[in-house]
Amino acid sequence: MAYAYMFKYIIVGDTNVGKSCLLLGFTDRRFRADHDVTIGVEFGTRSVFVDDLPMKIQIWDTAGQESFRSITRAYYRGATGCLLVYDISRRETFEHVTQWLQDVRNGCSSKTTIMMVGNKSDLPRRQVTYEEGARFAKENGLSFIETSAKTADNVDAAFLETAHEIHTSIKNGVFDLTCQSHGIKVGMPLNILGAGDDKIKPQNSLASTCAC
Ligand code: GTP
Ligand code: MG
Repeated sequence: MAYAYMFKYIIVGDTNVGKSCLLLGFTDRRFRADHDVTIGVEFGTRSVFVDDLPMKIQIWDTAGQESFRSITRAYYRGATGCLLVYDISRRETFEHVTQWLQDVRNGCSSKTTIMMVGNKSDLPRRQVTYEEGARFAKENGLSFIETSAKTADNVDAAFLETAHEIHTSIKNGVFDLTCQSHGIKVGMPLNILGAGDDKIKPQNSLASTCAC
């Protein structure tokens, strides 16, 4: 599918917080009950409509285990979107967000849109409240959402709201689009895509998807 923009995302956070399940939920609408530890990085893409425009999101899902840290950091460069994930049922994963945030800010650009994601919201025994997550995000200039990869609650929204924020920054002239180091690739010109025509209208309000 022709796209107006392609965005590069990374997913980071402690091991076992559900990063790969979020990726799988977004790209394949599937949930995996076992913890298949990511070795290095995994990759996925999905084409979506954001703000009525066809976009492609290219996602690098990184390993949370400490031993892979030097490999995974190499993928931070050029990411325009970042999902920073913790597990609402394990407090230590939330406490480690500060360190992850520092890593992301060192490795990415100051223009990278960071969405903090409290995953496993389906679990009854939480150790981090929604309010704590929201407060941390606000204090650190991040977006925030709680998700469940298990029930698919807010999984699409985590990726799509990030894309919407990036697109807003593009429209506000934040990025120099002649240079791909921001993790944004410009695709077909909007007049050729027929932006505004019925042929590329999404099927629902925020976004619709095609299977490619
Ligand atoms: P690493 O690859 O080691 O960094 O881990 P990861 O963050 O990619 O974790 P992964 O996606 O493999 O999920 C870890 C475990 O959590 C698996 O057993 C998943 O089934 C489970 N899990 C993931 N998301 C959810 C969720 O939203 N709710 C519940 N209840 N379990 C989840
Ligand atoms: Mg993984």
